[in-house]
Amino acid sequence: MRLGVLTGGGDCPGLNAVIRAVVRRSSRRYDSTVVGFLDGWRGVIENQAMELDIETCRGLLPRGGTILGTSRIQPYSNPGDMDRVRASLAAQSVDGLVVIGGEGTLSCAAQAFEDGLPVVGVPKTIDNDIALTEATFGFDTALGIATEAIDRLHTTAESHDRIMVVEVMGRHVGHIAIRAGMAAGATMTLIPEHPFDIAAVCESLTRRHEHGKYASIVVVAEGAKPIPGTMDIAPDETDEYGHIRLGGISNRIAAEIERRTGYETRVTILGYIQRGGTPSPADRVLSTRFGVAAADAVHDGDFGQMVALQQDRIVRVALSDATAELKLVDDGLYDAAREFFA
Ligand code: F6P
Repeated sequence: MRLGVLTGGGDCPGLNAVIRAVVRRSSRRYDSTVVGFLDGWRGVIENQAMELDIETCRGLLPRGGTILGTSRIQPYSNPGDMDRVRASLAAQSVDGLVVIGGEGTLSCAAQAFEDGLPVVGVPKTIDNDIALTEATFGFDTALGIATEAIDRLHTTAESHDRIMVVEVMGRHVGHIAIRAGMAAGATMTLIPEHPFDIAAVCESLTRRHEHGKYASIVVVAEGAKPIPGTMDIAPDETDEYGHIRLGGISNRIAAEIERRTGYETRVTILGYIQRGGTPSPADRVLSTRFGVAAADAVHDGDFGQMVALQQDRIVRVALSDATAELKLVDDGLYDAAREFFA
């Protein structure tokens, strides 16, 4: 058999570990060959690819980023691109395509399967928002980075008796924010699932300071939103793919906190630090298990599936089900986290 593999969307620690595992399983267990398409769907549309074998994958396990490159290009955006995709897969003699991506890339894979393409999905994203899998790879690494950063901000916040606003990634969901906030003892965490009331936030912070407990840390997921009508925020900007460009809500929140409470407030936006660099041990293991399972699914001819983690087992779920809606922060987890607010 011959497999194709692509990495799409934002990069994420563990992508290379998945590629390595797909290649190892395919060549060792099945004597199959693997071709890697460059820059996500772009490489399939334009038939730009590289051969992958065990030798090319040496040393990849701990390496961040993706050796294949990535992009947010989708073949359904331009008429004729799906025909080019079919032509490339035929030209490369690909029997099955492993699509490693987040919400956008996997939704496209689900559609491509409906249109007859032999695809298998692997859930990647530091945001951890893909449904039907308990974890996506990359999330654990980002959580570790965010937690360490918040730990460090505590001492500088305490020294200056300041309020620190820390912005973490989380476009539609607050998985990184809520867990990092909980792990690092944040004073308050604002996530997209629970729009915030800036007046209530400021009242809690003021009460806390008046009781002598200074140095608050407010963790903000980049997609956090105020309750409509309670605070003005700048309209969203979009990138060339219509993807809303986030990052910066914390500046607005910090200015409002300082204005309303009178306490000195500073902002730290963690940004791309959260998804660069080497994957954590847990993410290396999850990526490897996902890669092996994706290669198995292709060899079983079980297309239209996404590999997923459920109760520490790797299972297959329908891509269409996994991409039907996002996985939000669990209410019980939020409730436990809220117990420690202010
Ligand atoms: O989807 C993962 C993610 O890390 C989001 O949290 C973030 O909003 C987005 O990628 C930003 O990615 P880029 O700037 O590369 O489009």
